[in-house]
Amino acid sequence: MSADFKQLSRNTHSVEKTTNFMIYNYSQCLAIIQKEIEKLATEKRDPQELYAPVSYIMQLGGKRIRPVMVLYAHNLFNDSIEEALPVAMAIEVFHNFTLVHDDIMDNAPIRRNQQTVHEKWNNNVAILSGDAMQIIAYQYLCKVNPSVLKPMIDIFNTTALEICEGQQYDMNFASRKDVTLPEYIRMIELKTSVLVAASLKMGALCGGASEKDAQNLYEFGRNLGLAFQIQDDYLDVYADQEVFGKTVGGDIAENKKTYLLIKAIELAEGEDKNILDRAIRNQIADLDIKIEMVRGVYDNLGIASIAKKAIEDYSNRAFCFLDAVNVDESRKAMLKAMAVELMKREK
Ligand code: IPE
Ligand code: IPE
Ligand code: MG
Ligand code: MG
Ligand code: MG
Repeated sequence: MSADFKQLSRNTHSVEKTTNFMIYNYSQCLAIIQKEIEKLATEKRDPQELYAPVSYIMQLGGKRIRPVMVLYAHNLFNDSIEEALPVAMAIEVFHNFTLVHDDIMDNAPIRRNQQTVHEKWNNNVAILSGDAMQIIAYQYLCKVNPSVLKPMIDIFNTTALEICEGQQYDMNFASRKDVTLPEYIRMIELKTSVLVAASLKMGALCGGASEKDAQNLYEFGRNLGLAFQIQDDYLDVYADQEVFGKTVGGDIAENKKTYLLIKAIELAEGEDKNILDRAIRNQIADLDIKIEMVRGVYDNLGIASIAKKAIEDYSNRAFCFLDAVNVDESRKAMLKAMAVELMKREK
C-alpha cells in the first residue's frame, strides 16, 4: 500500500454513518478483500506446482484498487457490501491472472518487488497457473446473488475478451513505428480501462443501481483507467524502482508504444529523432544505454509534463461522469478520494 493510500485510510478510519447509510473506507474494504484472498491463498490443493503460484501472486500484495472499486460502487447504492465480495474476488483474481501472463509476454522479471511467476518457476507453470486463475475467477463470480448472475457474467465475458484484444494490440504495436495516438488510446482502453470500468459497473449493478448510474460509473472508470495506464507508462520511465516494484525502463527495452514514446516520436527532430529511430530499430544493443538515451530524449522534449497533462485531462473527464451519478454527493467521497490518490501514485 502506498503512503497515499495509508493516508487515505487514516483520514477515514471508521465506518461513517450518514443518513442511515454505512460508508466503508479503503482500509475497511481492503480488510474484507484481504481476508478472502488469505482464504484462497492458504487453501491446500494438489498439484502444488499448479496452485503454489496462485497463492504466491495473490499474496504478493498490490494495491487492490479494482476490488475496492467494486465494493465502493456497490456501497453507493447499498450497505451490505459483502454481497459484492464474489464480484470483487473474481475481478482481483482475473487481474492477477492477466499480470502473470503479461509478465511472460513483456519479459518482465520483477513484479511487486518480487520475482515474476515465470521467473520463479517457468513459463509453462505461469501459463497453466494463469489458466487456473481464470477458472477460479469464474468460480467466485458464480457465487454472486443469482438475480444478478446473468448480467455479471455478460459484463465479465465482454471485458475479459476485450483485455485479450488490448494485449494483442499492445504486442502488435511493439513492432510498428507508426502507431497513432487514437490507436494507442483504444489499445489501453482495451487492455486496462475496461477492467476498471467493469469493476465499478458490476459493483453498482450488484448493489441495485439503475442502468443509467451503472453506465455513468462505467464511463468514470473508463476515463480513470486511461489516466491510470498513462500514469503506469510514465512510472515505467520515471519511477523509483523500489517503490514501483517493476523494472524501470522495461517499456523502452521492449519497444512498447507508450503515451510517452508516441508523443516523443511526434515531436522529435534532428538528433532526438535519430535516437528514437535507432532505439525502435533495436540498433542500440545495450538495454541500459538504450533506456538512458530514450529517457534523455523524453527530457529534452518535456514529455513528462505532457503525460502529466493527459493524466489530468482524463481524470477530469472521469469526474464529470461520477458527478452525473444520481446519489448523494457525500456517498461519492470515497471513490473521489481514491481517484485523486491514484493520479498521484508512485506505484
Ligand atoms: C498493473 O495494475 C497493470 C496495469 C493495468 C498497469 P496495478 O497497478 O493495479 O497492479 P497491482 O495489482 O497494484 O500490483
Ligand atoms: C497492463 O499493461 C495490461 C495488463 C496486464 C492486462 P502493462 O504491461 O503496462 O502492465 P505492467 O506495467 O506490466 O503492470
Ligand atoms: Mg507488463
Ligand atoms: Mg504488457
Ligand atoms: Mg506498464
